[in-house]
Amino acid sequence: MANYLLKNHIAVIAICNPPVNALARSVRAKLYDLVKKAISDSDVEGIVVCGSNGIFSAGADISEFSNNKAGLFPTIYDIVMQLESSNKVTLAVIDGIAFGGGLKLALGCHYRLSSTNARFSFPEVKLGILPGAGGTQRFPRVVHLIEAAKWITSGQEHSAYQAHEIGLIDYFLTNNLLDKSMNFIKEIINQSQNLDNRRISKLAVKCGDNIESEIVSQSKVLGKKFRGAVAPLVCWHAVLCGSYATYDQGVLFEKKGTNMLINSDQSKALIHAFFSERMSNKWKLRGEFDFRSQTPLPIKSVGVVGLGTMGRGIVITFLINGFCVYAMKQNKYALDQGINYIRKVLGKEKSNDNKMDFLSSLLVPVNLYSGLQDVDLVIECVYESMELKKKILRRLDAVCKPSTILATNTSTLDIDQLAHATSRPEKVVGMHFFAPAHLMSLLENIYGKMTSPEILSTVMHVGKAIGKNSVLVGNCHGFVGNRMYATYVAESDFMLEEGASPQEIDTVLCKYGFPMGRYQVSDLSGNDVGYKIKESKGLTKKQQPPGTSETIRNQTRYSSLPDLLVEAGRYGFKSNWKGWYDYDAKTKIPQTSPFVTNLINEYRNRNGFIPRKISEQEILERMLFPLINEGFHILEEGIASRPSDIDVVWLNGYAWPRHTGGPMYYAHTVGLPHVLDVLQKHWKMTGSTQPHWKPR
Ligand code: COA
Repeated sequence: MANYLLKNHIAVIAICNPPVNALARSVRAKLYDLVKKAISDSDVEGIVVCGSNGIFSAGADISEFSNNKAGLFPTIYDIVMQLESSNKVTLAVIDGIAFGGGLKLALGCHYRLSSTNARFSFPEVKLGILPGAGGTQRFPRVVHLIEAAKWITSGQEHSAYQAHEIGLIDYFLTNNLLDKSMNFIKEIINQSQNLDNRRISKLAVKCGDNIESEIVSQSKVLGKKFRGAVAPLVCWHAVLCGSYATYDQGVLFEKKGTNMLINSDQSKALIHAFFSERMSNKWKLRGEFDFRSQTPLPIKSVGVVGLGTMGRGIVITFLINGFCVYAMKQNKYALDQGINYIRKVLGKEKSNDNKMDFLSSLLVPVNLYSGLQDVDLVIECVYESMELKKKILRRLDAVCKPSTILATNTSTLDIDQLAHATSRPEKVVGMHFFAPAHLMSLLENIYGKMTSPEILSTVMHVGKAIGKNSVLVGNCHGFVGNRMYATYVAESDFMLEEGASPQEIDTVLCKYGFPMGRYQVSDLSGNDVGYKIKESKGLTKKQQPPGTSETIRNQTRYSSLPDLLVEAGRYGFKSNWKGWYDYDAKTKIPQTSPFVTNLINEYRNRNGFIPRKISEQEILERMLFPLINEGFHILEEGIASRPSDIDVVWLNGYAWPRHTGGPMYYAHTVGLPHVLDVLQKHWKMTGSTQPHWKPR
C-alpha cells in the first residue's frame, strides 16, 4: 500500500498499489499514518513522497466512487493538508504518471521534481467530476488561472516539459531521480527556507490585470466544446472562484460541486465508458478462448498496402508508436505523394528534430510486393472492392513469409471470403481503422471462421500498443459500427422525406452531444462513399429498370435523396464545399442550401410525401433507437460479446457523446421498456418495409 524508508534523516514514503498506484482507501490510510509518523519522528528532517514501480499515482481509485469509499477518512484532502502544513520540507518526486489525486498530493508538497518522461493530468472531468481535495483551488495558485482552467476542463495529459514550463514542477531530471531528489531536499533543508512561501493554499491566485476579458473569451470557447456535458462547466466555475473568492470559499464551492457531480447520471455514464474501454481488451471468443489463454506473437515490422487517406493514417499511427513500417504503393508518383504527406504530418507531431529523424528512420517506402516479404503483419487498405482485396491478399500470401499475419482494413466485406483467397486463412483477420486513423481511437478487430485465437490475441495486443481502443467483433456486413450506422443514416433520410430538414436533424443530434450531425459528417467524409456502396449493390436508380420507384428497393423502404445529391455532384467538402449544405470555405460553417431545399421539395412532391413538422423527441428517438435495436441484434448473433463493447465502438469511432455512456448504456438510462414501446409503435406502422424497427 505504501512503504517507508528512513535514509539520511529523510523519510521516503513510496505509494505502492499496482498497477497504477490508485489511492484506494487502504492506501490513503497507510499514507496518512506514514506521513504522520514522519512528521512526529524527531529524527526526520524532510519527507519525500514518491511512487513504486515507476509510477507516482493515477489518482483516486475510480472503483470506490460507486461505494462511497472515496469520501471516507482519510481522504486525499486530509493527506494533502498534512503534507502542506508540515513544518518539515515535503517533496513530491514524480515518475511515470501524476494524475488526479496523485497530482493533488504533489500540489500538497512544498516542492515537486519529476523525471523527464513523467505525464501530468487532471482527468477528473472525463469521469464527470471535478478535481476535489482542493485541486481546483491550489492549481491556479501555482500556474496561471486560465492555464489551470484549460487543464482542468479538458482533462488532457501534459508532458514534464509542459508542466515545468508553466511552473507546476520545480525541476525535472533525466536520471537517478531518487538519489538526486535526496540531494535536492537536503539542500532545501540546509537553506532553512520559509515554508509559508511554499504552502500553495496560502498563495495568491495567479491572474493578471486583464483577467476579466480573458475569462469572457475563454467562456465562449469552452462553452462550445462542452456540448451538454455538465462537469466541465462546474470545473470552469470552480477554478474561476480563485479570481474573486478566498481559498476557503473556493474549497467550499468545490465540495458542493463534487457532491453534485459524483452521483450524477453523467458521471456514472463516464465511469461506465472508462471501465468498458478497459474491459474490451479482455476479449473472449465463443467461450473457448480468451485474452488469458493466448500469447500474442511479437510484431516488430508492419506493412501497409495502399496510401490513400486510410493507409497514410495507419502508417502514421504505427510510426508514432515505434513500429518499423513498410509503406507500399506500386505507382511511384503516388508512393512519393503518400510518403511526403506522412512526413509532413510527422513533422507537425514531432517534439524535436531527433524524434523526427528517429520516426523517419522507421519508415520504409516500397513499390514492390516483394519488399513486404519479411514483415510480421501486413494491412491492406485499398478501396472497398472484394475482387481487388482478394487479388492483393493473394499476392501478399505469395510473397510474405509464412508467419506474416494478413490483415484487411475492410469496413464491410466478408472476412471469410477474403481469407479463403489465401493459403493461410487462419492468419487472415480484419483490422478496421476509422478515418483519420492516426486521430481516431477505435480499432475493430474482426475474426473470421478460420482466424486462429493466437492471431486475435496478437492484433488485440497490437491495438493496445498503438494506443487504440480495440474491440474484437464477429464477421457480418458492416461489423458492429457500420452495421448500426446504416440504420441511423436510413432513418434520418426517411425523416427528410417526411418533412424534417438536414439542419433540424443535425441540430437535435448536436444538442444531444454529437460534435456534428449526420449530414455534416456525411459532407465531411464524402457523400460519394455511401453512393459507391449502394452502386456496388446495384441499388441506384440508374441501375434499376425504368420506372422503378425512388422509395422502395427489395420490398423495403429506400430513400433516393442521397443518391440524387451525389448525382448532382454534391459530394460535400471535396466538391467545392457543396453537399447537404453550402459551406463557407474559410469558416466551414454550414449554410442552408437552396439547391438542396429545392431537391427535397421536388422529391417530396414527386413521391407523394406531405411534409409535417417532426418534433425534436421524434427525431432523436428515430435516430437512436433503431441503432440501439440493431445493437441488440448484434449481441443476439454474438457479433459483439458484450453491450459495453458496442458502447466502446460508438464512443471511439462515431463520437457518441461520452457523458451518455454509449448507445447500449443510454438505452438503459432512458429505460428499456420505453425503447421497446417506441420500437413497437414504429414496427406496427411500418411493418416489414422498415425491418430495423422490429424489436428484439
Ligand atoms: N482507479 C482504479 N483503477 C484504475 C485507475 C484508477 N484511477 N486507473 C487505472 N486503473 C486500472 C484500470 O481499470 C486497469 O485495470 P484492469 O487491468 O483490471 O483492466 C489498470 O488499472 C490499468 O489501466 P490501463 O488504463 O489499462 O493502463 P494504461 O497503462 O493504459 O493507462 C492510466 C494507465 C493511469 C494512464 C489510465 O489507466 C488512466 O488514465 N486512468 C485513469 C486515471 C484517472 O482518471 N484518475 C483520476 C481519478 S478521479
